[in-house]
Amino acid sequence: MFEKKLLQIAHPRPTDDEGLVLLEGAEEGEMIFSGKAVSLVSGEKYPVKSGYLDLLGRRSGADNIANLTNFLPGAGRGYEPLWRVRSLDILTGEEFSNEREVEIMAGLSGVEKGGVFLDLGCSAGLYTRSLAKVLGGEGSVVGIDISPSMLREAARRAKRFGASSSSLPSFARADAENLPFADESMDGALCGGSLNEFGDPGRVLRETRRVLRSEGRIAIMGILRARTKNGLRLQKLLSMGGVRFFEEDEIRSMLARSGFDSDVFRTFGSVFFAGAASR
Ligand SMILES: C[S@@+](CC[C@H](N)C(=O)[O-])C[C@H]1O[C@@H](n2cnc3c(N)ncnc32)[C@H](O)[C@@H]1O
Repeated sequence: MFEKKLLQIAHPRPTDDEGLVLLEGAEEGEMIFSGKAVSLVSGEKYPVKSGYLDLLGRRSGADNIANLTNFLPGAGRGYEPLWRVRSLDILTGEEFSNEREVEIMAGLSGVEKGGVFLDLGCSAGLYTRSLAKVLGGEGSVVGIDISPSMLREAARRAKRFGASSSSLPSFARADAENLPFADESMDGALCGGSLNEFGDPGRVLRETRRVLRSEGRIAIMGILRARTKNGLRLQKLLSMGGVRFFEEDEIRSMLARSGFDSDVFRTFGSVFFAGAASR
């Protein structure tokens, strides 16, 4: 599903200097649930099906083994019930509900001002649908991911557990390293756990800066480099699959080099929450 008015900021090719238009489709209110959008610049068509607008087509967008595991059948269905509901309890070493992290992330993203928000590497859409609920129709959220399995599940969960049909989020299959959106078309971005998995996290931050309006905010939740021997051993194993772990100063300098001013950095065990505003 994809909000019709957001087609105008969808620029799948760097040469697209105008948005997409709906060619055919099933709409309900503001949302397109199936059909095809077209670029009048390139003539290329992009389907809306299985709950998302597919802007990647045959390209996988995957950079590493960790990325590919998210394409496995069942990856989307299992992600939240098997991992996500408990992930921050495990990683922080304290009781840390999804509601608590969503509240922190919403606060860091500047959602109270409304506008258009982007969820980078949304998986099953926890942040996407939660932010849509917070916005309650006073803005829009687009969750992007490269994995069809995750996006299908994200759309299913948003319909089932989201607030109401008037605050449904949009989903697109898209590569965060080559964001298919117009310059300065968004007001804020969220990135939960995904920075650890992107092949080129610096490039994702630069792309995010490009699509954000000035003073637009980014909220990041991620995992820091371990401090214990066992933690380091586990992280070394995971890094073979392409997952990377950061020091606080690496995050701050990556943000600064990408055009952001960091203002908040909070840590809970090995989890960090960072907030920054685009210059
Ligand atoms: C750790 S999970 C994200 C969790 C999710 N944000 C949440 O809070 O539940 C990382 C996700 O990023 C996606 N991903 C990896 N590389 C990507 C890329 N280049 N562009 C978009 N999504 C990507 C993966 O498919 C995976 O679903």
